[in-house]
Amino acid sequence: MSTATRIDGKAFAADVRARVATEIAQIKKNHNLTPGLAVILVGDDPASHVYVRNKTQQTVEVGMASFEHRLDDKTPEADLLELIDKLNKDHAVHGILVQLPLPSHIAEIKILSAIDPDKDVDGFHLMNVGRLWTGADALVPCTPYGCILLLKKHLGDLTGKRALVLGRSNIVGKPMAALLLEESCTVSIAHSRTTDLPARCREADILVAAVGRPMMVKGDWIKPGAVIIDVGINRIDAPERGEGKTRLVGDVDFSAAEQVASAITPVPGGVGPMTIACLLRNTVVAACRQANIDITNI
Ligand code: GUN
Repeated sequence: MSTATRIDGKAFAADVRARVATEIAQIKKNHNLTPGLAVILVGDDPASHVYVRNKTQQTVEVGMASFEHRLDDKTPEADLLELIDKLNKDHAVHGILVQLPLPSHIAEIKILSAIDPDKDVDGFHLMNVGRLWTGADALVPCTPYGCILLLKKHLGDLTGKRALVLGRSNIVGKPMAALLLEESCTVSIAHSRTTDLPARCREADILVAAVGRPMMVKGDWIKPGAVIIDVGINRIDAPERGEGKTRLVGDVDFSAAEQVASAITPVPGGVGPMTIACLLRNTVVAACRQANIDITNI
């Protein structure tokens, strides 16, 4: 049986970061400007701490200024709004990211709406959501942006492809559908209430799985030759590796899918590394827009 190509997100993310580092060096040299990214982490969710540590490390590695704000999980909403207001006005800060999820006493929509849309490098502000869906110049959510870069690198032109996005979150599913539509795919969004899900998946030339359910997509849900983008990162028990051991798996049953698809992103090492690379790229885009620098000519 044929085996799918593994789409190497780790290597491609390193390429994107290298390009970003070159752009930053040029911006510093030609415009005397250092792009800066502020990351706010509220509380002590262990996974969020790992993400923020990686973001900060890679921000510094590409030559950007990094501003990290770690706040107690009891921080009042008003204090967080005050910090965002300060960062909105700070000329050294070109991108602002508030790590999600937030503690339950803080209203996520209020916080995301308080960020200056031009500094909203997560692309979660309603202004950027509207820009994305109307084809205007948006700051685009980082994970779907990374998925589109991987798809275009592997397939080239996506025009006319049938794409199915499995999952309807604001962070991945919905912006992913908008980006695929922008690439002239015929797009469907499936979710937990979709009827006859395996048959819907089997129609797709491109399947993007973003539901957060370990190995939910089975091999016989996949159209032969389809390209599979697996956004899921799920930790499951792995007793075969020893007592108490765990391993990471995606939303797709990788070993079965590999026998049917033409290409697939592995977990880990597929979509994951692209997210931070795209965050860094968004910060460069935001800095250039704020300083009226033509990004195509830096
Ligand atoms: N939590 C999980 N993914 C993300 C993301 O892309 N951005 C932010 N801010 N928080 C997240």
